[in-house]
Amino acid sequence: MAHIDYDERIPNNVDLAHDRRLKKALEKWQPAYLDWWKGVGPQVFKGNDIYLRTAISTEAGGWANFGYVKMPDYRWGIFLADREEDRTIPAGDHAGQPVWQEVPGEYRNVLKRIIVVQADTEPASVEQQRWLAATAPSLYDARNLFQVNVEEGRHLWAMVYLLHAYFGRDGRAEADELLARRAGDDDKPRILDAFNQPCQDWLTFHCFTCFTDRDGKYQLGALAESAFDPLSRTCRFMLTEEAHHLFVGESGLERIMRRAAQLEREAPNGDPRELGGIDLQTIQKYVNYWFTYSIDLFGSEVSTNAADYFASGLKGRWREAKDHDEHSALHQQKTIEYVEDGRVVGREVPLRNAMNEILREDYASDCDRVVKRWNKALEEEGSDFRMVLPSTKFHRRQGIYADHHFNPAGELISADEWESKRDSWLPTESDRQYVHSLMKPVYEPGKFANYIAAPRRGIHGQPVEFEYVRTDG
Ligand SMILES: [Fe+2]
Ligand SMILES: [Fe+2]
Repeated sequence: MAHIDYDERIPNNVDLAHDRRLKKALEKWQPAYLDWWKGVGPQVFKGNDIYLRTAISTEAGGWANFGYVKMPDYRWGIFLADREEDRTIPAGDHAGQPVWQEVPGEYRNVLKRIIVVQADTEPASVEQQRWLAATAPSLYDARNLFQVNVEEGRHLWAMVYLLHAYFGRDGRAEADELLARRAGDDDKPRILDAFNQPCQDWLTFHCFTCFTDRDGKYQLGALAESAFDPLSRTCRFMLTEEAHHLFVGESGLERIMRRAAQLEREAPNGDPRELGGIDLQTIQKYVNYWFTYSIDLFGSEVSTNAADYFASGLKGRWREAKDHDEHSALHQQKTIEYVEDGRVVGREVPLRNAMNEILREDYASDCDRVVKRWNKALEEEGSDFRMVLPSTKFHRRQGIYADHHFNPAGELISADEWESKRDSWLPTESDRQYVHSLMKPVYEPGKFANYIAAPRRGIHGQPVEFEYVRTDG
């Protein structure tokens, strides 16, 4: 096999050049990764120059290098956030003890599983979005899509690094499996259900990056508080990149909303659909759908697994070390609302068992902040419409509310009422078909599809009309 200069080929801060075992493992994995990328990664503009950011070091400024690159030549690197001197375990039974630099035998399997489940989401979303650029509303948006895609690819590298470096032979086998599963495949689907649905329109893409990537942010945040230091450092660096994905989703939805508000004013009967836009009611339905879909990913409200992960220090709460004073979470309770005999009743559960719910609440309040910003934009555009974040009980498929019906305000309702109103709360087949019908590519620099407003600013100081994708190759 040809010699690979790792610092050149795979920018890294894990001293790859001097780790023979790891080098060998990655040498075998890399060609398979590239085959995967070419086969099920972005299928449009796959060989074109794209204006992308590449991380080449973790120092401020070093991790955000911008320039044209063809995606298969992207330099997927391996970066861990800098080691914190004397870092101690933030949470659980071992809180205050030195963090682990190696995987303790007793937690090996569960830690591997946690890493694999997180890792599996990264390539899954790339697969889900592989045809999306065929209908990009602009080159600016196509570029943002590709930026998210290459960074999800890098997140896969980050997780595969952990599997290769710390889990020996079965870690390598898991790394191979990560390239063998496929989003939506009948025989070998991705692990989590939300990552098996195809993403075929840009309203869905922006909802996905706003709400589902944000779930990723909170999962990574919990793992950044892990006692296993290499995992913590990996996740801390991934979080810096994730921020851009959330920006893409949040600002993308805001632009669709602004455009809806503008078209509302211009349309003869006040309906943006008359002028080929997406109406705010339909956007609200997509928000309802994707918010609720994403909160299912946090797991059950009351969970012994969650309690075990916290107790053993594998995961912490969001900003555990910074925002919490009491890190054992013992002898404390949390009120969880159950449905009993047709009524919602609060019951106390041990705090550790409610860790999924606590993380979900942090996530939901982050989403609430986003919705407030959208409403400011709608106000600026002169619209009376206000987006509303639904209750976390509404439209659940997992957890203790899954067998009951709630309206978006969080009130328990009958099955009949649910049936009669669901089409006003969630996208209908005809809503989806309408949104699909608008998906036509706009590849002229500085031009945007009619249903989405131009962004205020371009990327990295470039003008909005910059050629973010060179369409001539
Ligand atoms: Fe990611
Ligand atoms: Fe992401």
